[in-house]
Amino acid sequence: MDSLDTPAPGHNQPPLSETAAEAGRRRTFAIIAHPDAGKTTLTEQLLLLGGAIQIAGAVRAKGERRRTRSDWMKIEQDRGISVATSVMTFEYAGQIFNLLDTPGHEDFSEDTYRTLSAVDAAVMVIDAAKGIEAQTRKLFEVCRLRDIPIVTFINKMDREAREPLELLDEIEKTLALDVTPATWPIGSGREFAGVYDRHDATLRMMREGGEQEITLSGPEDARIDGLLPHGQGDVLREGIELVSVYPDFELDSFREGHLTPIYFGSALRGFGVKHLLDGLAKFAPSPSSRRADARLVEPDEEKLTGFVFKIQANTDLNHRDRVAFLRVCSGRLRKGARLKQVRTGKSIPVNAPLFFFAKERQVAEEAWPGDVVGIANHGTLRIGDTLTDGEELNFRGVPSFAPEILRRVRLDDPMLAKKLRKALDQLADEGVVQVFRPLDGSQPVVGVVGQLQLDVLASRMMAEYGVNITFEPTSWSTMRWVASKESGPEARAVLERFLRSAPSQMAEDHDNEPVAFFTSDWGRRRAEEEWPALSFLSLREQH
Ligand code: G4P
Repeated sequence: MDSLDTPAPGHNQPPLSETAAEAGRRRTFAIIAHPDAGKTTLTEQLLLLGGAIQIAGAVRAKGERRRTRSDWMKIEQDRGISVATSVMTFEYAGQIFNLLDTPGHEDFSEDTYRTLSAVDAAVMVIDAAKGIEAQTRKLFEVCRLRDIPIVTFINKMDREAREPLELLDEIEKTLALDVTPATWPIGSGREFAGVYDRHDATLRMMREGGEQEITLSGPEDARIDGLLPHGQGDVLREGIELVSVYPDFELDSFREGHLTPIYFGSALRGFGVKHLLDGLAKFAPSPSSRRADARLVEPDEEKLTGFVFKIQANTDLNHRDRVAFLRVCSGRLRKGARLKQVRTGKSIPVNAPLFFFAKERQVAEEAWPGDVVGIANHGTLRIGDTLTDGEELNFRGVPSFAPEILRRVRLDDPMLAKKLRKALDQLADEGVVQVFRPLDGSQPVVGVVGQLQLDVLASRMMAEYGVNITFEPTSWSTMRWVASKESGPEARAVLERFLRSAPSQMAEDHDNEPVAFFTSDWGRRRAEEEWPALSFLSLREQH
């Protein structure tokens, strides 16, 4: 299977370029999960296997779900730490894995959506007792938007779990995703003994401090009965028989995002994780071509391209610095390079690109397609920026979703209006909140996914800019980006007419794109009917 990425050297095949070989070794992925499903525990186990940390518990002491609001504010202040865990790079089976972390709290899910624009695969962690939960589904939908291949890990098999067949059924039905069990569990809860690997007919038994592997001739092998408690052998055979109705693993179907291989395990006990990682190493794609506005970009090109999907501010509170996370899409990034910021035409020096190894950061000498490097800057770079070594092209695809919490910003001291504007602009660059400026000139409106984002905004406004703000509710429950369906002066005139029809309900976003606010879904639908020449979009891809 690996051969798809690195063709076997044949007589007539030219040797791979260094860029192609390095890109072929990269596996860049994220973990998607509902809070508490075990993302942190699994991350630690993956890092242990990759030798990036020595002891479990090194990533974060506690599940993020338990954090209180004040914990989060503290985290915001200690942003240096979250930067270190934003990207975790480790080597396994000759490949370089870049695991991009996503915030555990759903109030920061916008950050997660953007991070998913920078990965080539995802691991979906499901709690075996709970199945598909709300956040799993939302994140899955974002993966589906860009056909990201997904490997599924059904976690917490060491606890009371739902019937595995029922779980498979739920994944298949609620996500409309084909499933193929790579392994099949033997019991659950206290009786969980291990898994049977359907690909290579191996029994993997959970043992204190590790796994025991027994290669069998197939499910009929009589050794199973000797290894499992009385009667369990037949239960296992029955299970294997039942799952034979599911499709076999098919690489193309997986890579197109239609089929997910399923692994069962227990992240807490470290069981099934190696198996999952082997699966990722074998099946997950290396960086592939990416669509930019001007053309399709191939990873093995010598020309350097990449885009910024995340900004982390104030990693060092003494210097007002920001780290922009650049996903390299093609070419080799060398330390000391000067890159073109396509949006502005500016030349950006990359003197000390940062690489991330769990808790440390290191200056990188070079980076390859699939890698993520941190570029320190003072506010020049923003989310969605494309960097190249001179070429005029833009990657689209870092998404903004229409927020449902819209608040008017109230400024205590009107003398600070100019400062407020600058501060809001900078924080919008970082993706802390979305900022909208009403066309009637009234106070700006901010859009967020969760209350915590507002807390972070207010506290950073005060701490970093000395501006005290509060938020007033608005009557709006949603917003849409408005665009003409057609181009040309006539279409533009319709759009202008619409915007003038109710200036107090219209605004411009951070990129001066027009938006409309609505008090209800009914109002939005009515506008759609009344203005058939316009599109009302809930998703916008930044550039
Ligand atoms: P998250 O990042 O997805 O939010 O989840 P996290 O890994 O923090 O795990 C949430 C809770 O579930 C933790 O318990 C963790 O120990 C537990 N857990 C994770 N994987 C497994 C598993 O395979 N089996 C079992 N039995 N439990 C698992 P906690 O009580 O919040 O934390 P702690 O006090 O145990 O550290």
